[in-house]
Amino acid sequence: MRVDQRTRIVHWSPAQMRQRVDEAMSVYESAMAYPVGTGTQRRDHAVAHTSLPGYRASAALTSGDELAGFGYGYRSLPGQWWHDQVRAALGPELAAAWLRDGFELCELHVRPRYQGYGTGRRLLLALAGVVPQPRILLSTPEGPTRAWRLYLDMGFVALARGHHFPGDNRPFGILGAQLPLSVTRPARQA
Ligand SMILES: CC(C)(COP(=O)(O)OP(=O)(O)OC[C@H]1O[C@@H](n2cnc3c(N)ncnc32)[C@H](O)[C@@H]1OP(=O)(O)O)[C@@H](O)C(=O)NCCC(=O)NCCS
Repeated sequence: MRVDQRTRIVHWSPAQMRQRVDEAMSVYESAMAYPVGTGTQRRDHAVAHTSLPGYRASAALTSGDELAGFGYGYRSLPGQWWHDQVRAALGPELAAAWLRDGFELCELHVRPRYQGYGTGRRLLLALAGVVPQPRILLSTPEGPTRAWRLYLDMGFVALARGHHFPGDNRPFGILGAQLPLSVTRPARQA
């Protein structure tokens, strides 16, 4: 049976994310092709993130209200694990330019059967449209992935390459973009 890949993008409040966090973690697990159970392990982190300052989330819903994808982030602040790791990775000059008043895009995932139809792009554009900070930062595993292509296409630049976060042997790129995003191509819809 052919899947209808059309989705509508909505903004989610922290409470709305908490209500559907299990579904979101299932999207995360399948999008990243992580072992079964990884999403459940990540659940408490995702719930805790909803209380962070500047939390913003977007969700992609099908006509049947299935969660096809989601993205979220928050204001990046000293004392947060990722912020402090990235500060050390960037060095003082880049950190001063990029980490001050930045938004950390913590998660952006689309369920595999909905990938490649512009949903990730629209989720990111929706989030970027409501972020009050002047810049967005993220980290993503290195490689010729759809995520890399999407971010570079939307104006992100690599601030650091081949970074290793503690406890993870994959090399990561740390990317940043000034807002508003410099998007030249129109959004695509299945
Ligand atoms: C990364 C991810 C969120 C992107 O979402 P997506 O819905 O699959 O991506 P999109 O379709 O919006 O955009 C990416 C693709 O569409 C293309 N595209 C998007 N909008 C387009 C447009 N208007 N015109 C032409 N091409 C377009 C991009 O170049 C890319 O195409 P390609 O893979 O054929 O090169 C999703 O693929 C995913 O969940 N991946 C696994 C998890 C992951 O890596 N998450 C990021 C961790 S930081």
